[in-house]
Amino acid sequence: MEEYPINNRRLRLNQHIRELSRQVRLHHEQFIQPLFVCEGISKPTPSPVLNGVSTHTKDSVLAQIERDLKVGVTKFLLFPIPATKSDLPSDFEFITSVIASIKQRFGNTIWLAMDVCLCAYTSHGHCGILTKEGTAINNSKSVQTLAHYALQLAQAGADCIAPSDMMDGRIGAIRTLLNANGLEHIAIMSYSAKFASVFYGPFRDVCGSSPDKTLQLKGRSSYQIDFTNTGDAIRSTIRDMEEGADIVMVKPALAYLDIIQSLKAQVNVPIAAYQVSGEYQMLELMVREGLMDRRSAHLEAWTSMVRSGTSIVISYASREAKQWLSS
Ligand code: PBG
Repeated sequence: MEEYPINNRRLRLNQHIRELSRQVRLHHEQFIQPLFVCEGISKPTPSPVLNGVSTHTKDSVLAQIERDLKVGVTKFLLFPIPATKSDLPSDFEFITSVIASIKQRFGNTIWLAMDVCLCAYTSHGHCGILTKEGTAINNSKSVQTLAHYALQLAQAGADCIAPSDMMDGRIGAIRTLLNANGLEHIAIMSYSAKFASVFYGPFRDVCGSSPDKTLQLKGRSSYQIDFTNTGDAIRSTIRDMEEGADIVMVKPALAYLDIIQSLKAQVNVPIAAYQVSGEYQMLELMVREGLMDRRSAHLEAWTSMVRSGTSIVISYASREAKQWLSS
């Protein structure tokens, strides 16, 4: 019989040498937990399409953060679901009062990033304001509204502004307005490489923010990045950095690891990966069917993001990270 001696397997043979050989280590400190707060509900409501995720009331979100703090989650990304929608959103009182009550209760023990977008506020579900004819997005008007919205969120106590709208020029406009109002210390995490993706489906169900299909302006492809276009993702991310983004983002994550890897080679700011609703729920449904283990599935997916170059992971299962990473 021919001899086939062990060589590469030497470093895989036992737990000890595998631990010593690891090239990537996840840590719970690098996770951000999304939260949804909804104006029109009287008690927390579990989502039927996003496993383990509930929309919260102004009060129940405080209780959720309290529970999360106990399991080691300190960083949050908050999404508002307002009760009323309009063509020209201007009333942000609900979410600013939520931020104020969160910050009053938890202060700097938590870090609160606020998603900045108009899609949950507009009657048509688009991320910006439409032109008079309703056939296109008015970029300048959208950016002005987004910047004023961001200012109100920061004044209410948000630690970080995270624009996900994909309008041109919003990062610069927000940075300028924050600075002009003494808020130079508020960070901006830009959804800089955000692709027009089908994987946002469950999120839109939770937020009621699907764009109106009867409009001439179909879907979000006139502002989110075409998923064939690496060049656009790189260009948009570098542009956002130049406009003042402190953290950049690739979204979705799992189908876009090549983008993370290219960006890592080109930018020197932290990169966040957003494991979005659809990619999260794909794993959850497999788990529900008994086809794989939940912890192993998420750890393997998260590891691929960090291995590709992200230092930050945004996941609906972030509250599981500390326990999973220490067992
Ligand atoms: C708002 C926004 C979306 C997501 C984050 N911010 C939806 C969209 O662009 O349609 C998606 C998050 C997810 O799917 O988990 N623009």
